[in-house]
Amino acid sequence: MIYYVLKKPFDFLIQAKKDGRKLASLTAYDYPTAKLLDGAGLDFLLVGDSLGMVVLGHPDTTSVRMEDMLHHTRAVARGAMQTWIVSDLPAGSYPSPEAAVENSARLIEAGADAVKIEGGRECLRIVQAIRAAGIPVVGHLGMLPQRVREEGGYHIKGRSDLEADNLLADARALDDAGVSAVVLELVHAPLAEKLTRVLKIPTIGIGSGASCDGQILVIHDVIGLFPWFRPRFAKARADVAAEIQRAASEFVASTRQVAG
Ligand code: KIV
Repeated sequence: MIYYVLKKPFDFLIQAKKDGRKLASLTAYDYPTAKLLDGAGLDFLLVGDSLGMVVLGHPDTTSVRMEDMLHHTRAVARGAMQTWIVSDLPAGSYPSPEAAVENSARLIEAGADAVKIEGGRECLRIVQAIRAAGIPVVGHLGMLPQRVREEGGYHIKGRSDLEADNLLADARALDDAGVSAVVLELVHAPLAEKLTRVLKIPTIGIGSGASCDGQILVIHDVIGLFPWFRPRFAKARADVAAEIQRAASEFVASTRQVAG
């Protein structure tokens, strides 16, 4: 039996779509960021497995493990008192419906309000099992970072008729399985617009055009904290990396001045 307290009824995402209110979400991986973002009016914080790259320094998300996700979910949950928290099920953590339910429950116990899972119809039994355990699920379609190695990079999805038909069938299947929303990553913008029109659940885009029901970005890209790489579609609204370097250099200079 799983016991947890929802911060708010999990259908608020679908309600936002019905009301025509755009959803906004950012990732968070630690206590201070979660605490700072908690009052920013975001609809949810995502403890994304992108932490593998922007926090842990791995080349992609494939080596992120449950222990990493639990550690960072706990930290975010200590800072975000009001905002819904979605945590990624990392690569390899949902090989079967049973393992998916067990690992989702661990993320909920760590402080998440919902879990996110990458994939479409091939994950349907897994999504259904997590939903049957009473845990809200967010889907993730399009470019799937956990499969970046098989796919040979980050490419736009859904340009061809075949890819578009498959994505539509995946999205409809997730919608019928009761997910709360679906992240569309690098989906060809006209297809993202169509999915947004036909689905009951909200679409949350990242690099998928402006027509989605909401947008999500990695916090490091928005605040300029990962200057070595920023995707084309993410606008940096601050330059925190430069500020860190300036403050540290200033500290070094002032320390040496006193010592000399
Ligand atoms: O892990 C992550 O940050 C994500 C976003 C890119 C949506 O899945």
